[in-house]
Amino acid sequence: MAGTGTPVPVLRACPPGSVGGQGPAADVPDLLDPVERERAAALAPGPRAGFVAGRLALRRFAAELLDVPASDLTTHFSCPRCGTGPALAHGRPGYTLRGERLPLALSLSRSSGWILLGAVVDPPSGVEIGVDLEDPSRLGFDGFDAVALTPAEQSSLAGLAGKALRQVRARLWARKEAWLKMTGDGLTTAPGTLDVLCRAGIRDLLPGEAGLPPDLRAAVAVAGLAL
Ligand SMILES: CC(C)(COP(=O)(O)OP(=O)(O)OC[C@H]1O[C@@H](n2cnc3c(N)ncnc32)[C@H](O)[C@@H]1OP(=O)(O)O)[C@@H](O)C(=O)NCCC(=O)NCCS
Repeated sequence: MAGTGTPVPVLRACPPGSVGGQGPAADVPDLLDPVERERAAALAPGPRAGFVAGRLALRRFAAELLDVPASDLTTHFSCPRCGTGPALAHGRPGYTLRGERLPLALSLSRSSGWILLGAVVDPPSGVEIGVDLEDPSRLGFDGFDAVALTPAEQSSLAGLAGKALRQVRARLWARKEAWLKMTGDGLTTAPGTLDVLCRAGIRDLLPGEAGLPPDLRAAVAVAGLAL
């Protein structure tokens, strides 16, 4: 895909159980790096299976996009607080191949057993991607709006209730987290200070896009590229 003009984001959804690595609790595949296996080992069995599946899917996605063996990649994550490199198990995803950073901007999200992956191949300097996936059924709790939404976003929910309310909340939350993964700040930025109602650089995925089920909400954020 290199050298073919302006890059476009590549999106892929992985259904529950499609990735592997979700077997017995102790079964963390060798394909993951030691630092990832260490993080997996510290998790309870349920979250561990989700973590492992996401990391396997992300590694294979990156390898496939660049046509290199997944087993040759080394994690190279970045955290605004902890720095960057092969010893880091959290933060913005990335990989190296024989010591060189892969020419990929990457992002990952998990929700309700689904995994959403996003990438920009050969990203122009400074271009990053964020993706987020949300299950509206998990956003029905009191207090969400006051903590998570700006006053303008809260006003946009006026008159909504039940399923419609949860769906709009999920849309807004997916847009926020996609943006905050793209910037790399994550939730170190208070979400209630970030207005995403009509922010350029964020796009909602259409219901069912990338193979996702229509009841989930998802967004992709990429600054500096057409979405
Ligand atoms: C990332 C975040 C916005 C959303 O996470 P979430 O809704 O719980 O989970 P999602 O499945 O949608 O996304 C998780 C993925 O986001 C990515 N991610 C995490 N931090 C990120 C960052 N700063 N920038 C970009 N992507 C990030 C990772 O790929 C992570 O996958 P992993 O669990 O395999 O490491 C939130 O968890 C967060 O802000 N985390 C970091 C907070 C922080 O910086 N803490 C300080 C650490 S020292």
